[in-house]
Formats: sequence, structure tokens, C-alpha cells
Amino acid sequence: MSQKTVLLIIGGGIAAYKSLLLIRKLQQRNISVRAILTRAGAQFVTPLSVSALTGEKCFTDLFDLTDEAEMGHIELSRAADLIVVAPATADLMAKMAHGLADDLASTCLLATDTDILVVPAMNVRMWHHAATQRNLAHLRQDGVRVVGPDEGEMACGEFGFGRMAEPDEIARAITNYFADTQRGGPLLGKHVLITAGPTHEPIDPVRYLANRSSGLQGYAIAAACAEAGAQVTLISGPTNLTVPEGVDMVRVQTAREMMRACEAALPATVGIFCAAVADYRPKQKAVEKIKKEKGGMGEIKLSENPDILKTIANHPDLRPELVIGFAAETEAIKSHAVTKKKRKNCDWIIANDVSSQSAIVGGVMGGMENQVIFIGGEQGDGKRDPKPESWPPMSKQQVAARLVQKIIDHFG
Ligand code: CTP
Repeated sequence: MSQKTVLLIIGGGIAAYKSLLLIRKLQQRNISVRAILTRAGAQFVTPLSVSALTGEKCFTDLFDLTDEAEMGHIELSRAADLIVVAPATADLMAKMAHGLADDLASTCLLATDTDILVVPAMNVRMWHHAATQRNLAHLRQDGVRVVGPDEGEMACGEFGFGRMAEPDEIARAITNYFADTQRGGPLLGKHVLITAGPTHEPIDPVRYLANRSSGLQGYAIAAACAEAGAQVTLISGPTNLTVPEGVDMVRVQTAREMMRACEAALPATVGIFCAAVADYRPKQKAVEKIKKEKGGMGEIKLSENPDILKTIANHPDLRPELVIGFAAETEAIKSHAVTKKKRKNCDWIIANDVSSQSAIVGGVMGGMENQVIFIGGEQGDGKRDPKPESWPPMSKQQVAARLVQKIIDHFG
């Protein structure tokens, strides 16, 4: 890949220090960085540290005539191969969504036709606020890519979504972007959202409810979609698998985190729901390890988890064009799958036998092979079910390749 240039806009947030690490990570990947530091950003990191790392002047003020003489803001924004806003504060995202241009950063963002990737970082309540979510949806519809935010402890002492993604994740998303623009493929320009793996539902700090899913099938589908040129967001519960090449990864633990991550990743052209989501979670998570001498666990009271597939398949405005579900069944596989397809409003469903009588050696869940029944459908045709196709036993990679071929054929 020829050397690429990123214009990094550093907004005002405590996470700005991570952007300094990001500069290094990008340079290690042979990507050069030119930076703009907003006035608020300069409260957290200094222009001197930014320019020392980039090896270039750090641009800070719109009305600096010397800068305009050397390189106008128009040229600054267009010379880059990608603009990255990290941290993207709620304020910066609001300005972008509404086309405001009152400083160098926002003017460059408006004056460009270069693609933009934003990396949100803010307090959890600001992130969940309806205004921020509206702005985020707006930006996604404008074609802006988004990485993160992560869930976790925040500098302000609260816990939740809003922590800026780690520099390695951001650097990977940037490399994926450049790879996507160079790669062709029948799914080029399509965003595919995939869930995979189990979810872990905590009982106390060391114990959880889960299932045997390894994530292999979902990861194989993610890899095959990326190979076919799609932009892939893989939202995965805990697994031991390596991230497939060219895939944007979002790691979650619980069903509710997976639900939120899926909503945040929309819009997508295709949604593939492969995760073995735990249907229930303990009603309460004990703060400390539950001790036997203090009465032990006794009964665990459960609450039902959200149905991610059903929620996304019934999304009022952002339903993916093609929604594909899986059905893990132990008996009456075909008929349960047909009912599930209707109940969850998906276009296609892939059923597998997860019983101990399954023909697959070692079982489907956690194993290397799969044997599935594919139940398709024509778009907009919710009533008529086409004849189910029984695929012979094959590796999970082969199932993935066959499914991706069906997706390619579907989009013509
Ligand atoms: N699924 C989901 N969210 C859930 C449960 C399931 O998104 N809370 C998705 C799975 O990823 C899969 C499909 O729904 O694509 C069917 O999952 P499955 O476990 O077979 O069915 P359930 O909905 O759990 O129903 P049941 O346990 O009654 O078979």
C-alpha cells in the first residue's frame, strides 16, 4: 500500500492523550499524520507534543494568516486520504451533524470530500442523550464511519459507554478503511453487521451464565464477507479467536451490551445474527464474590435479555435490507426454524442441529464443522416460504463461503 496520510483532529476530552499514542501506531503502519488541535483539545495536550510526534506543524487556529499563506484550510482538509476525529466530543459531533463551521476543525470537516472516521469519547449520559444519538445517526447516514465508544470506567468516575476506543482498535479501523478502498469485490460498498460468540451474564465478579458457543461460525462469515469486499462490523462476545483480517471488531460481554453495540453500528445493508445470546441474565449481579459460608448462591433469579435479532429486524427506520438469523434447535429443526423466522421477522434463517444426536463429530457448538438447513425467502415476501435447502456436513468456513455467495447473488 502506498503511503497514506491521515488528518487527525484532536478534540477536547481527557482521551486526547490516547490520540498521541494513535499517531505513533499509525506511523508504525506507514501512515503519516498531520494534526489539528481544537482550542478545547489544547487544554488536554499541547501543540508542541503533537508536532513533536507528527514531525509537522500542529494546526490550531482558523485565522492564522501565516498558515493560510502556507496551506489554506481547504487544502489541509483535502490533502488527506482520510480525516479522523479523535476524540470526537459531543460538541464536535453536533457541529458536524449540523454543518457548523466556526473554527479550523469544523471548517475543514465541512470543506472536504475526503471520507471521515469519528471516534466518540464523552460521558455516558452525554453519549446516551437523544441529541447525541440523533447526531450519530445523522453522521452515519452521511457516510461517516464510527469506531467505538467502548464501555467501561470513565475518567469522571461513572461507568458505561463513552470511553474512547483504544489506539490499537482505531489504528486497525483506519488500516481496514484503506484496505477496503483498495480492495474490489462483489460486496464493495455494503456494510455487514455480524454478531458472534456467546454472551457472558455475570452472577458475581468471577462467575457467569453462558453457553458452549466458540464464535467460529460468525468469525468465518465475517472473514468471508470482508474477503468479498464488504465493510464488516463484527460484534462479538468473549471468544479465543483472532480478529479476521479487514474486520472492525467490537467486543462485548453481555447481551445488553451486544444489543447497544448493534444499534450503534446501524445502518447496515446486511445483518447476520450468529451469536448464541444468553436468553436470561441473573436479575442481580453481586458486587463481591458470593461466599458459601455466607449462605452461598441458593436460587439465581433471572431476567429475560433483549432479543437482538428481533429488535433489529423490526427497527422502525434502520432495518438492514437483508436480515439473516440462525436457529439452534435440538428437535423438529425445520419446523421450529420456520416459526422462528416468522416470529423474528428475518428474511433468511439458517437452522442447525445442536443436539447430542447431531451427525457432526464433536457437536456443532464449539466444533469445527456444521450441518445446516438454509431457509431463504424473496424480499418483501413474508408469507411464502421457499423450500428449505439441507446442506451436507462441511467446515464452518465452507458454510460461510456458501452463505456469502447467496448474499452476493441476492444483491445481483
Ligand atoms: N438471538 C438474539 N438475541 C437473543 C436470542 C437470540 O439475537 N436474545 C438470535 C440468535 O443470534 C439467532 C436467533 O436469534 O440468530 C435464534 O436464536 P436461538 O437461540 O436459536 O433462539 P431463541 O430466540 O433463543 O429461542 P429458543 O431458545 O426458544 O429456541
